[in-house]
Order: sequence, then structure tokens, then C-alpha cells
Amino acid sequence: MPFYHKLGDMPRKKHTTFYKADGTLYREELVSTQGFSSVYSNKYHYWEPCKATSIKELNSLEDVKWQNPPLQNIHFYTDKIIKNGDFLSSRIEYMQNNETAIYFGRPNSNPDYFYKNIYAHEYIFIHRGSGVLKSEYGNLRFTPWDQIIVPMGTIYQIIFDDVNADNKIMTVESDSAFTIPKHYRNEYGQLEEHAPYEERDFNFPDELDPKDEKGEFRIVMKARNRFIEYIQPHHPFDVVGWDGYLFPFSLNMKDYNPKTGRIHLPPPIHLAFITKGLVLCNFNPRYFDWHEQAIPAPYFHSNVESTEILYYVEGDFMSRSGVDVGSVTMHPMGIPHGPQPGKTELSVGKNWTDEYAVMVDTFGPLFPTTKVKECEDVDYWKSWLK
Ligand SMILES: [Fe+2]
Repeated sequence: MPFYHKLGDMPRKKHTTFYKADGTLYREELVSTQGFSSVYSNKYHYWEPCKATSIKELNSLEDVKWQNPPLQNIHFYTDKIIKNGDFLSSRIEYMQNNETAIYFGRPNSNPDYFYKNIYAHEYIFIHRGSGVLKSEYGNLRFTPWDQIIVPMGTIYQIIFDDVNADNKIMTVESDSAFTIPKHYRNEYGQLEEHAPYEERDFNFPDELDPKDEKGEFRIVMKARNRFIEYIQPHHPFDVVGWDGYLFPFSLNMKDYNPKTGRIHLPPPIHLAFITKGLVLCNFNPRYFDWHEQAIPAPYFHSNVESTEILYYVEGDFMSRSGVDVGSVTMHPMGIPHGPQPGKTELSVGKNWTDEYAVMVDTFGPLFPTTKVKECEDVDYWKSWLK
């Protein structure tokens, strides 16, 4: 997490006695990253966090690996397949590599269990729907276009306000943390004036509701494709206070301030978050380049070390034909792509775009899963022929 935050009660100093009303100790848990060398938080529980009365392996995630997928530009529609379920079970995995997986889901129920991803950090884009992300760190309310970062190892639930609404989420799992690019921050970590967002744009858990409840509480843990169930004899949200830099937070996409230039600026200008394995960009409505001969449409490009994913959120996508809201284009590393015939010429003289899109560029190959076959625009690769 980028900034320090604290909620609830805690002792004056870390690692010192902190007593409950009955005279017994609260249990301190330090959640660390990179082996006590990077960001961490200290939580104070009613109960020891390692208590479990049962541990059981559940069914693994469906194997959707596509053996030898085509090495070509791909376009598919994420609104075509619907899988009933909550924020986790409704997800469909469309892309994967060793470090990353990308899912889309249309949640139409809420979970009665708790979830913990023990091998991945998560980016969750709320395209449609509102509700609350409940976690040990408190409640984080969300509305459409919120981009929520959930650190690896967080116990949480996503509860939608209306399960009959047309909720839609995009989830990116990464085995390294989502962070704010270094060049957006000064030597003290404060966001620079030129950053595309400011501290005030970030939303933190702001409501801690510690549960001192005993019973049988089911925690589903995900370890890549495996699911493991822990039954805990006390409520997992039993934290009375915490502080630190590691906790879920959100940034609404509409709070992202885009940058433009006299001539076309490349995608890194739209950076929102980075991990060790990918960059994540926000494309928001913006003025186009103002050079008198500028071509606003992107030039053809071969990004030879990255696979480019673009999720189309809203608006008119000026360089692509055939894409719709909910579309994903996937341009594999080494294969050139760019505007379809006529789109370059059409962009000349235009001064504004109202497109919204989320881009994920992985460093290295990313592969479509067999789920892509079920909703693919099979002629996309031919769309440059005309
Ligand atoms: Fe591209």
C-alpha cells in the first residue's frame, strides 16, 4: 500500500502488552512483505490468528489452459458468457501466465464464506455494481469504476448491494504487489505534482467493526489453482486495531488525470499501477495531440517484450472497429498491431476522445485460455486486410 493508515485501538508501542477488558492479551500479528523488508501492517486480534479446527483440500480451479493457442491478435467479448456465483465463483479465467491471471465475472450472489488469496495480490476493477469489501482491515465501500487493490493474504469478502443488478468485475492476480510507479513519488513517498492522481483520490477502509464471535467460520484459501478450506473457531474479522502500509485500498478510474502531448504520447504516460510482471494503465477521455499535423491514432507498433491487453470500458474507441463495451483485445508480444484500415486517416483533425479502457501489459507472453474460444471474434486478425 502506498501510504500509512491506521484504524481502531492499539498499544502506544509495537510488540508491547495490550490487554482486553477481561485481562487477557490481544494477539498482535505482523503481516510483512518481502521477508520483513518491505511494507507491512500490525494487526491486533481478539484471538490467535492461527487457530483452525479443520483443514481440507477443495476441488481445484477448472483447468482452462489452451495448449498451443494461436499466436495472433485476438478479440473476445467478456459479456457473452455468464457463470452464476459470487465475486469469486462467478469469475471466468480468460488469460494466464506463470505470474498473472485475468478474470471477468458477473456476480449475482454474495458469499457466506471468507476468502484469502495466499499466492497472489489482486487488482479488482468494479465495472458495474456497488457494495462493500469487508476485510480484517475494516469496510471499504466501492462504487462503479473503483479499482481496488487487495494485498496477498488479506481475508475478505466482496458484498454487492444488489445481486440482481448487472454487476461486472475484472480481476487481475499477480504474484508480485501492485504499486504506484516510483517516478510519481518524491524522495519521501509523497505523490509528485505531475502524478496522475493525488493522495486525496485514494479510498481506505474507514469502518472497523471487530467481531468477538466464536463458532465455525469458513475461510477459502486460493493457492494458484488449488483451494483449501480452513475452519476457524472465531470470526476472522476480529481485529480491534491496525496500522501500517499494507491493506486494501481503491482509486476510482474517473479520478485519474490523463496526460496528452503536442504529438502522440505512448502508453506509459497512462500508468496507474505496476507489478514486477506487468503495467496497468488507465485510458480516460482526453484532448488529442495539438500539433497542426498530428495523427492522434496510435502508430503501428510491435511491443516485442510485452503482451498487450485492453479492456474496453466505455466510449467510442477511435482506433478499433468491431470492439464494444466489454470487449478485450489481446495483442501478443512480437506481433504488430495498430489502427484498422481508415482509422488513422479518420483521427486526423480530431481533438477529443471519450474512450475509457483499462490496459494490462505483461512483461513476456500471456496466453488466452480455452474460455476465449467461447466468446472470440474469430475474424479479428483479418480486420487489417480491408
Ligand atoms: Fe498497443
